Amino acid sequence: MLYAFIVTAVVGVLLPAHNALTTNMTKNLKVLVSSNDYPSSGLDVLREHFTVVQSPYCNFGEEGANENKAELLKLIPGSSALVWISHHPITKELLDKAGPQLKIVSTASAGYNHCNVPELKARGIKLSNTPNVLSSAVAEIAVGLILGAARRFTENLDQVRRGEWENGFNKVLGQDVRGSTVGIVGLGGIGQATVKRLSGFEVGKFLYTGHREKPEAKALNAEFTSLDNLLEQSDFIVLAVPLTDETRHMINSTTLGKMKKNAILVNVGRGDLVDQEALYEALKNKNIYAAGLDVTTPEPLPKDHKLLTLPNLFVLPHIGSATLRTRSDMAVLASNNVVNALTGKPLITPVLP
Ligand SMILES: *[C@@H]1O[C@H](CO)[C@@H](O)[C@H](O)[C@H]1NC(C)=O
Ligand SMILES: *[C@@H]1O[C@H](CO)[C@@H](O)[C@H](O)[C@H]1NC(C)=O
Repeated sequence: MLYAFIVTAVVGVLLPAHNALTTNMTKNLKVLVSSNDYPSSGLDVLREHFTVVQSPYCNFGEEGANENKAELLKLIPGSSALVWISHHPITKELLDKAGPQLKIVSTASAGYNHCNVPELKARGIKLSNTPNVLSSAVAEIAVGLILGAARRFTENLDQVRRGEWENGFNKVLGQDVRGSTVGIVGLGGIGQATVKRLSGFEVGKFLYTGHREKPEAKALNAEFTSLDNLLEQSDFIVLAVPLTDETRHMINSTTLGKMKKNAILVNVGRGDLVDQEALYEALKNKNIYAAGLDVTTPEPLPKDHKLLTLPNLFVLPHIGSATLRTRSDMAVLASNNVVNALTGKPLITPVLP
């Protein structure tokens, strides 16, 4: 009893003191947040432990490529961590400017093809990303693209805007998800979440392909197969893989040629998974039925881009993870990875541990 009391008392007194001490010891560490639009939930986590410096510019688009790039080069010297909110690449120049105390880059994204992994690795800098927390939101957009492409939203919205509705019984007919074969390229978090969401749609069969069979597939009733089989059999093909040297242009004239005439291609991964020239030809010549893209090359797609002339293409401006809750969850996770890296704990979601 007395022992328990003493332990409780000692722990009760020591723990907060220990936390405070740890916090005081990290307060002089500088953490650079690369964009002015990082959610406050993520900033709060960082500010509790560190001295946070935040760029006054946005790290996306033209501003990110110009004003912000110059600003980051000024702000980064002496930083122990860099929180990267951007689709722009992390340059050697920026890492050189940071100095040898830079321990971690934490990207607020699932994809890290823009993070210069070889260079970070060579320098012994840790890298974390934010997978999983965005799977549901991205999967919701995958479902949106499936419906948008299958039910010809681009043409139909155009009719609404023009006030010229084609309203015959046999006009602007689309395709059903019910009874179809849905092929998922990459049954990771996003792929699995997409299957879960579609499971109420009376899909006929789920196929998936990837490096290896996934234990989660059984519960999802998804059947493992080769990429070729998947392309040949699927009515809907959903790309949910990261962009790597291996997956770049995995959808090209050859692979498009293997798809069914009624196939609908959906991409929620990265634009460069698809050879857009080949996709344009396939859609224009109606070799496949339609495509729904949340990601393109480049982003933004110029408004006079020839892809946008296609009635059977439904495009969204890379909004997969763009919900209030998901962006906040991504920020908190990105910040907690920084906290762990700078307090000697393992990363929660490591790319380079
Ligand atoms: C940590 O800093 C706070 C104020 O910033 C101070 O109140 C507290 O006593 C310090 N704790 C330790 C253990 O130094
Ligand atoms: C097309 O993609 C397939 C599968 O990803 C690949 O094996 C093939 O080399 C690619 N072909 C071309 C012309 O890029």
